[in-house]
Amino acid sequence: MTLTQRQPSTLPHMSMAIEIQGLEKSYGELHVLRGVDLAVARGSIYALLGSNGAGKTTVVRILSTLLKADAGSARVNGFDVATRAADVRRSISLTGQFAAVDEILTGRENLVLVARLRHLKDSGTIAGELLARFGLTEAGGRRVATYSGGMRRRLDIAMSLIGSPPVVFLDEPTTGLDPEARIEVWQAVRRLAEGGTTVLLTTQYLDEAEQLADRIAILHEGRIIVDGTLAELRQLLPPAKVEYVEKQPTLEDVFLAVVSGKGSDA
Ligand SMILES: Nc1ncnc2c1ncn2[C@@H]1O[C@H](COP(=O)(O)OP(=O)(O)O)[C@@H](O)[C@H]1O
Ligand SMILES: [Mg+2]
Repeated sequence: MTLTQRQPSTLPHMSMAIEIQGLEKSYGELHVLRGVDLAVARGSIYALLGSNGAGKTTVVRILSTLLKADAGSARVNGFDVATRAADVRRSISLTGQFAAVDEILTGRENLVLVARLRHLKDSGTIAGELLARFGLTEAGGRRVATYSGGMRRRLDIAMSLIGSPPVVFLDEPTTGLDPEARIEVWQAVRRLAEGGTTVLLTTQYLDEAEQLADRIAILHEGRIIVDGTLAELRQLLPPAKVEYVEKQPTLEDVFLAVVSGKGSDA
Protein backbone atom coordinates (compact mmCIF):
# COMPACT_ATOMS: atom_id res chain seq x y z
CA MET A 1 0.00 0.00 0.00
CA THR A 2 1.32 3.43 -0.90
CA LEU A 3 0.46 6.41 1.22
CA THR A 4 0.63 9.84 -0.34
CA GLN A 5 1.71 12.29 2.31
CA ARG A 6 0.62 15.59 0.90
CA GLN A 7 0.51 17.52 4.13
CA PRO A 8 2.76 15.76 6.61
CA SER A 9 2.40 18.57 9.15
CA THR A 10 -1.33 17.95 9.48
CA LEU A 11 -1.18 14.16 9.72
CA PRO A 12 -2.44 13.05 13.10
CA HIS A 13 -0.72 10.66 15.48
CA MET A 14 -2.08 7.30 14.41
CA SER A 15 -1.27 5.20 17.44
CA MET A 16 -4.25 5.76 19.73
CA ALA A 17 -7.77 6.90 18.89
CA ILE A 18 -8.02 8.81 22.17
CA GLU A 19 -5.20 9.99 24.43
CA ILE A 20 -5.81 11.97 27.60
CA GLN A 21 -3.12 13.28 29.94
CA GLY A 22 -3.48 15.09 33.23
CA LEU A 23 -6.97 16.36 32.45
CA GLU A 24 -8.41 18.71 35.06
CA LYS A 25 -11.74 20.46 35.27
CA SER A 26 -13.50 22.37 38.01
CA TYR A 27 -16.94 23.91 38.13
CA GLY A 28 -16.37 26.76 40.56
CA GLU A 29 -15.16 25.16 43.79
CA LEU A 30 -16.02 21.65 42.62
CA HIS A 31 -12.83 19.96 41.41
CA VAL A 32 -14.43 17.27 39.22
CA LEU A 33 -11.43 16.01 37.21
CA ARG A 34 -8.15 16.00 39.13
CA GLY A 35 -5.71 14.60 36.58
CA VAL A 36 -7.30 12.03 34.30
CA ASP A 37 -5.04 9.89 32.10
CA LEU A 38 -6.29 7.34 29.63
CA ALA A 39 -5.58 5.93 26.18
CA VAL A 40 -8.01 4.15 23.88
CA ALA A 41 -6.72 1.93 21.07
CA ARG A 42 -8.26 2.21 17.62
CA GLY A 43 -11.17 -0.11 16.95
CA SER A 44 -11.66 -0.99 20.60
CA ILE A 45 -14.55 -0.55 23.00
CA TYR A 46 -13.49 1.31 26.12
CA ALA A 47 -15.78 1.71 29.09
CA LEU A 48 -15.42 4.66 31.42
CA LEU A 49 -17.10 3.45 34.56
CA GLY A 50 -18.10 5.68 37.43
CA SER A 51 -20.89 6.49 39.83
CA ASN A 52 -23.40 9.22 39.15
CA GLY A 53 -21.53 12.55 39.35
CA ALA A 54 -18.07 11.00 38.95
CA GLY A 55 -17.31 13.24 35.95
CA LYS A 56 -17.91 10.88 33.01
CA THR A 57 -19.98 13.34 30.99
CA THR A 58 -17.43 16.06 31.75
CA VAL A 59 -14.70 13.90 30.16
CA VAL A 60 -16.89 13.20 27.11
CA ARG A 61 -17.79 16.89 26.72
CA ILE A 62 -14.11 17.86 26.78
CA LEU A 63 -13.25 15.15 24.24
CA SER A 64 -16.03 16.33 21.94
CA THR A 65 -14.86 20.00 22.22
CA LEU A 66 -18.07 21.15 23.93
CA LEU A 67 -16.16 22.08 27.07
CA LYS A 68 -12.63 23.36 27.72
CA ALA A 69 -10.35 21.64 30.20
CA ASP A 70 -8.58 23.71 32.86
CA ALA A 71 -5.36 21.73 32.52
CA GLY A 72 -3.93 18.71 30.75
CA SER A 73 -4.29 17.60 27.17
CA ALA A 74 -6.50 15.38 25.06
CA ARG A 75 -6.16 14.12 21.52
CA VAL A 76 -8.94 12.48 19.54
CA ASN A 77 -8.13 10.75 16.25
CA GLY A 78 -4.70 12.35 16.62
CA PHE A 79 -6.04 15.91 16.93
CA ASP A 80 -5.62 18.07 20.02
CA VAL A 81 -9.06 19.07 21.29
CA ALA A 82 -7.83 22.55 22.23
CA THR A 83 -6.08 23.49 18.99
CA ARG A 84 -7.75 21.30 16.35
CA ALA A 85 -11.39 21.41 17.43
CA ALA A 86 -12.81 21.38 13.90
CA ASP A 87 -10.77 18.28 13.00
CA VAL A 88 -11.86 16.61 16.22
CA ARG A 89 -15.52 17.35 15.47
CA ARG A 90 -15.17 15.85 11.99
CA SER A 91 -13.72 12.70 13.56
CA ILE A 92 -16.42 12.00 16.13
CA SER A 93 -20.04 11.52 16.89
CA LEU A 94 -21.64 11.95 20.27
CA THR A 95 -24.76 10.18 21.47
CA GLY A 96 -26.04 11.40 24.78
CA GLN A 97 -28.21 9.83 27.37
CA PHE A 98 -31.31 11.43 25.94
CA ALA A 99 -32.12 10.33 22.41
CA ALA A 100 -31.96 13.13 19.86
CA VAL A 101 -34.42 11.63 17.39
CA ASP A 102 -37.46 13.44 16.03
CA GLU A 103 -40.65 11.74 17.21
CA ILE A 104 -42.86 13.03 14.39
CA LEU A 105 -40.66 11.63 11.63
CA THR A 106 -40.23 7.98 10.74
CA GLY A 107 -36.96 6.23 11.50
CA ARG A 108 -36.03 6.40 7.83
CA GLU A 109 -36.88 10.12 7.60
CA ASN A 110 -34.69 10.88 10.62
CA LEU A 111 -31.73 9.17 8.96
CA VAL A 112 -32.32 10.82 5.58
CA LEU A 113 -32.57 14.22 7.26
CA VAL A 114 -29.21 13.85 9.01
CA ALA A 115 -27.54 12.50 5.85
CA ARG A 116 -28.80 15.54 3.91
CA LEU A 117 -27.65 17.92 6.64
CA ARG A 118 -24.20 16.37 6.27
CA HIS A 119 -24.37 16.96 2.47
CA LEU A 120 -24.06 13.26 1.69
CA LYS A 121 -25.22 11.88 -1.63
CA ASP A 122 -27.56 8.90 -1.71
CA SER A 123 -29.16 9.74 1.63
CA GLY A 124 -31.84 7.13 0.89
CA THR A 125 -29.27 4.36 0.41
CA ILE A 126 -27.41 5.39 3.56
CA ALA A 127 -30.67 5.35 5.53
CA GLY A 128 -31.58 1.91 4.19
CA GLU A 129 -28.18 0.45 5.08
CA LEU A 130 -28.27 1.82 8.61
CA LEU A 131 -31.83 0.62 9.19
CA ALA A 132 -30.74 -2.86 8.13
CA ARG A 133 -27.60 -2.76 10.26
CA PHE A 134 -29.56 -1.90 13.40
CA GLY A 135 -32.47 -4.24 12.80
CA LEU A 136 -34.90 -1.41 12.03
CA THR A 137 -35.81 -2.16 8.42
CA GLU A 138 -39.39 -3.13 9.26
CA ALA A 139 -39.85 -0.23 11.67
CA GLY A 140 -38.20 2.27 9.30
CA GLY A 141 -41.50 3.47 7.84
CA ARG A 142 -43.12 4.07 11.23
CA ARG A 143 -43.10 7.24 13.25
CA VAL A 144 -40.48 7.21 16.00
CA ALA A 145 -43.26 8.04 18.49
CA THR A 146 -44.33 4.39 18.16
CA TYR A 147 -40.84 2.97 18.89
CA SER A 148 -39.74 1.25 22.09
CA GLY A 149 -36.90 2.74 24.14
CA GLY A 150 -34.43 0.25 22.70
CA MET A 151 -35.47 1.00 19.11
CA ARG A 152 -35.08 4.74 19.72
CA ARG A 153 -31.63 4.34 21.19
CA ARG A 154 -30.58 2.11 18.27
CA LEU A 155 -31.88 4.72 15.84
CA ASP A 156 -29.97 7.37 17.76
CA ILE A 157 -26.76 5.36 17.46
CA ALA A 158 -27.48 4.75 13.75
CA MET A 159 -27.90 8.51 13.23
CA SER A 160 -24.59 9.19 14.92
CA LEU A 161 -22.86 6.91 12.40
CA ILE A 162 -23.88 8.89 9.34
CA GLY A 163 -20.69 10.11 7.73
CA SER A 164 -18.75 7.19 9.30
CA PRO A 165 -16.90 8.96 12.12
CA PRO A 166 -13.92 6.88 13.29
CA VAL A 167 -14.58 7.65 16.97
CA VAL A 168 -17.98 7.39 18.66
CA PHE A 169 -18.81 8.58 22.17
CA LEU A 170 -21.79 6.91 23.80
CA ASP A 171 -22.66 8.65 27.05
CA GLU A 172 -24.66 6.20 29.17
CA PRO A 173 -26.23 4.54 26.12
CA THR A 174 -28.50 2.24 28.11
CA THR A 175 -29.47 4.30 31.14
CA GLY A 176 -33.22 4.10 31.56
CA LEU A 177 -33.69 1.13 29.21
CA ASP A 178 -35.29 -2.16 30.18
CA PRO A 179 -33.10 -5.30 30.18
CA GLU A 180 -34.21 -6.46 26.73
CA ALA A 181 -33.57 -3.07 25.17
CA ARG A 182 -30.15 -2.90 26.83
CA ILE A 183 -29.18 -6.18 25.16
CA GLU A 184 -30.31 -4.79 21.79
CA VAL A 185 -28.16 -1.70 22.28
CA TRP A 186 -25.19 -3.85 23.36
CA GLN A 187 -25.46 -5.80 20.12
CA ALA A 188 -25.51 -2.54 18.17
CA VAL A 189 -22.38 -1.33 19.99
CA ARG A 190 -20.57 -4.61 19.30
CA ARG A 191 -21.41 -4.31 15.61
CA LEU A 192 -19.95 -0.81 15.62
CA ALA A 193 -16.62 -1.97 16.95
CA GLU A 194 -16.57 -4.93 14.56
CA GLY A 195 -16.75 -2.37 11.75
CA GLY A 196 -13.55 -0.76 13.07
CA THR A 197 -15.12 2.19 14.89
CA THR A 198 -13.53 3.16 18.20
CA VAL A 199 -16.16 3.37 20.94
CA LEU A 200 -15.76 5.22 24.21
CA LEU A 201 -18.80 4.55 26.32
CA THR A 202 -19.61 5.78 29.77
CA THR A 203 -21.69 3.72 32.10
CA GLN A 204 -22.63 3.33 35.73
CA TYR A 205 -23.55 -0.30 35.09
CA LEU A 206 -20.84 -2.77 35.93
CA ASP A 207 -22.42 -5.53 33.85
CA GLU A 208 -22.45 -3.25 30.81
CA ALA A 209 -18.70 -2.70 31.07
CA GLU A 210 -18.22 -6.41 31.73
CA GLN A 211 -20.28 -7.36 28.65
CA LEU A 212 -18.98 -4.87 26.13
CA ALA A 213 -15.61 -3.43 26.86
CA ASP A 214 -12.15 -4.49 25.72
CA ARG A 215 -10.81 -2.24 28.46
CA ILE A 216 -12.41 -0.68 31.50
CA ALA A 217 -11.35 2.42 33.44
CA ILE A 218 -12.87 3.37 36.77
CA LEU A 219 -13.22 7.11 37.34
CA HIS A 220 -13.41 7.92 41.02
CA GLU A 221 -12.78 11.15 42.92
CA GLY A 222 -11.45 12.85 39.82
CA ARG A 223 -8.93 10.24 38.72
CA ILE A 224 -8.74 6.91 36.92
CA ILE A 225 -8.10 4.61 39.86
CA VAL A 226 -7.81 1.39 37.85
CA ASP A 227 -7.64 0.62 34.16
CA GLY A 228 -7.25 -2.64 32.31
CA THR A 229 -8.99 -5.57 30.69
CA LEU A 230 -11.65 -7.37 32.70
CA ALA A 231 -9.16 -10.20 33.28
CA GLU A 232 -6.57 -7.72 34.57
CA LEU A 233 -9.10 -6.04 36.85
CA ARG A 234 -10.13 -9.41 38.24
CA GLN A 235 -6.53 -10.13 39.15
CA LEU A 236 -6.69 -7.24 41.59
CA LEU A 237 -8.65 -9.56 43.85
CA PRO A 238 -7.83 -13.15 44.72
CA PRO A 239 -10.48 -15.66 43.64
CA ALA A 240 -12.77 -16.62 46.50
CA LYS A 241 -12.70 -20.34 47.27
CA VAL A 242 -16.20 -21.66 47.75
CA GLU A 243 -15.81 -25.29 48.81
CA TYR A 244 -13.99 -26.79 45.85
CA VAL A 245 -15.09 -24.29 43.24
CA GLU A 246 -13.01 -21.20 42.61
CA LYS A 247 -15.30 -18.24 42.19
CA GLN A 248 -13.81 -15.52 39.98
CA PRO A 249 -14.38 -12.04 41.38
CA THR A 250 -16.96 -10.11 39.39
CA LEU A 251 -16.34 -6.59 38.17
CA GLU A 252 -18.67 -5.54 40.98
CA ASP A 253 -16.35 -7.11 43.58
CA VAL A 254 -13.38 -5.30 41.99
CA PHE A 255 -15.24 -1.99 41.75
CA LEU A 256 -16.34 -2.06 45.37
CA ALA A 257 -12.88 -3.09 46.55
CA VAL A 258 -10.97 -0.40 44.65
CA VAL A 259 -13.47 2.36 45.35
CA SER A 260 -13.65 1.66 49.07
CA GLY A 261 -9.86 1.23 49.21
CA LYS A 262 -9.49 4.88 48.22
CA GLY A 263 -10.01 7.37 51.01
CA SER A 264 -11.27 10.90 50.41
CA ASP A 265 -7.70 12.16 50.50
CA ALA A 266 -7.76 13.71 47.01
N1 LIG B 1 -22.15 22.95 34.23
C1 LIG B 1 -21.95 22.53 35.48
N2 LIG B 1 -21.90 23.41 36.49
C2 LIG B 1 -21.67 23.01 37.77
N3 LIG B 1 -21.47 21.74 38.13
C3 LIG B 1 -21.53 20.80 37.16
C4 LIG B 1 -21.77 21.15 35.79
N4 LIG B 1 -21.76 20.01 35.05
C5 LIG B 1 -21.53 19.00 35.92
N5 LIG B 1 -21.39 19.47 37.18
C6 LIG B 1 -21.10 18.66 38.38
O1 LIG B 1 -19.88 17.98 38.13
C7 LIG B 1 -19.92 16.66 38.63
C8 LIG B 1 -19.66 15.68 37.51
O2 LIG B 1 -20.72 15.74 36.58
P1 LIG B 1 -20.81 14.78 35.33
O3 LIG B 1 -19.56 14.90 34.52
O4 LIG B 1 -22.09 15.07 34.65
O5 LIG B 1 -20.84 13.34 36.05
P2 LIG B 1 -21.36 11.93 35.48
O6 LIG B 1 -21.57 12.06 34.01
O7 LIG B 1 -20.26 10.96 35.84
O8 LIG B 1 -22.62 11.60 36.21
C9 LIG B 1 -21.30 16.52 39.28
O9 LIG B 1 -21.15 16.76 40.66
C10 LIG B 1 -22.12 17.58 38.61
O10 LIG B 1 -23.16 18.01 39.45
MG1 LIG C 1 -23.22 11.74 32.80
